[in-house]
Amino acid sequence: NKNIISIADLSRTELELIVSTAQSIKQDPRPQLLAGKVIASCFFEASTRTRLSFETAVQRLGGTVIGFDSGGNTSLAQKGETLADSVQVISSYSDAFFMRHPQEGAARLASEYSSVPVINGGDGANQHPTQTLLDLFSIYETQGTLEGLKVAFVGDLKYGRTVHSLAQALSLFGCQFYFVAPEALRMPDYLCEELSEAGIQFTHVENLDQVLPELDVLYMTRVQKERFDPTEYQHMKSKYVLTAAMLEGVKENLKILHPLPRVDEITTDVDHTPYAYYFQQAENGVYARQSLLALVLKEEL
Ligand code: CP
Repeated sequence: NKNIISIADLSRTELELIVSTAQSIKQDPRPQLLAGKVIASCFFEASTRTRLSFETAVQRLGGTVIGFDSGGNTSLAQKGETLADSVQVISSYSDAFFMRHPQEGAARLASEYSSVPVINGGDGANQHPTQTLLDLFSIYETQGTLEGLKVAFVGDLKYGRTVHSLAQALSLFGCQFYFVAPEALRMPDYLCEELSEAGIQFTHVENLDQVLPELDVLYMTRVQKERFDPTEYQHMKSKYVLTAAMLEGVKENLKILHPLPRVDEITTDVDHTPYAYYFQQAENGVYARQSLLALVLKEEL
């Protein structure tokens, strides 16, 4: 089984293969690569994009989806069944198991009990590797390379699983990072140590305006209400709000990405600028997940 639990489960060569396959699938979105396959889609935490793009990906490839969303009336939610027991059973019905869970490490645990490949669709504040695949594809599509780019990550870098996975992946391509966050939401130490050991240049900054003119990629994120107590959330939210007026003087090739959903961290006037790419990025979720599924199930990873 090739489990995709953390972005670190994929090498640079494998990431490049996933991106190039996503590119081919975008040209021809309906190759019947999953005909006859049943894929379990198990969401223990809310999702719009990840679940729907994943399920679209399966169906466009000719496969069948079984599963439930976070409101699921399952034996785990209603009758106290353990995740381990649920996974053993669901994986006996399916050819691959895709899941999101609010607890860090849940996907890793599931992979220990699954008889089929497990793909992590987000585990708490830890990792979101399939988001990274569509982020990489979107960056490659717009910049023509993944190498040596200047990338700023903005917002909740402490709990932002999309940021954790993407920074690890881009570190394989020699990118340079700015981590733009208030002191309390800084990138976790373990990740900074990992980047330092890999010789990656990164700088912590609090002022976004200061770095905007240098950037190739601006990765905005939401302060995630669900990871804070209400008082702390009120204090942290709206720390960084990107407006169209702030984009004067940026590089022509700048692209603004955001995993979405957004709250107020990008004003809607930015949507109409040539720099906004977050809705195309969300669409790329289908192609990137088609690519990953096809490669995992054909055992090409
Ligand atoms: N980007 C992302 O994970 O969005 P959802 O929470 O809607 O799946």
